[in-house]
Amino acid sequence: MATYDVSDRSAIVTGAGSGIGRAVATLLAANGAAVVVSDLDATAADAVTAEITAAGGRATALVGDVSDPEVVDRLVAAAEELAPLRIAVNNAGIGGPAVPVGDYPLDAWRRVIEVDLNAVFYALRAQVPAMAAHGGGAIVTMASVLGSVGIAHSSAYVTAKHALVGLTKTAALEYGAQGVRVTAVGPGFISTPLLEANLDAATQQALADKHATGRLGTSEEVAALVAFLVSDAATFVTGSYHLVDGGYAAQ
Ligand code: NAI
Repeated sequence: MATYDVSDRSAIVTGAGSGIGRAVATLLAANGAAVVVSDLDATAADAVTAEITAAGGRATALVGDVSDPEVVDRLVAAAEELAPLRIAVNNAGIGGPAVPVGDYPLDAWRRVIEVDLNAVFYALRAQVPAMAAHGGGAIVTMASVLGSVGIAHSSAYVTAKHALVGLTKTAALEYGAQGVRVTAVGPGFISTPLLEANLDAATQQALADKHATGRLGTSEEVAALVAFLVSDAATFVTGSYHLVDGGYAAQ
């Protein structure tokens, strides 16, 4: 387990009911943070909250859609009730349909941009002032290796993730002097319910072969990087985009 002390503070983790978000939430809680487990799916949010509590950590579940700015405000308020908000991991995301640009349905495009990009903007608007009021904090936006390279048949997702990297850099420039660090994480293809639900075994193997490691990543491998970035071990790290991609983008 990656160990970075994040005690005496609260952390918001969106999309914490599954996959990468779940691994991040449980790791931050194990490292001392009081975690707001945010997800659309109440059963999943409650299960992760119970898992953290059973392991001796502090967590509270908040169910809602992060593309609703009111939900994002409620997340900040819930975090502040636990401890000063100093960490946010804006991780919730969706994939969208696998079709070329010419066939991409307008409603699907709008939904992917709303959840994968606009919701993170809403989150930053709410989180940054709260953290600045406490003298600082650290925010991670969950981009993707597809925040720097494209892939066919995923235009909305690739667009949103590229834009997230720009949003991250800009927010870091604006709030660095107030002690708020903002970084982006770019996972390669990670074995999570998102991937398993959308891709058959042959496609998953073909994707695995595109990584220098010859395999897909795990949620825990992404969480280890996030735990470092939001901790006080990373106080000179901001405005940057960090791949955890098994070498996917190296060629
Ligand atoms: P997942 O599908 O396993 O988990 C995502 C969670 O977010 C789910 O529990 C879902 O209910 C929740 N969620 C979705 N929309 C939401 C909304 N509007 N409001 C609140 N919660 C919502 O997905 P996974 O794989 O863990 O992905 C997490 C993040 O990592 C996403 O942003 C994804 O784009 C990114 N990512 C994933 C990669 C992968 O290969 N799995 C690779 C690179 C990035």
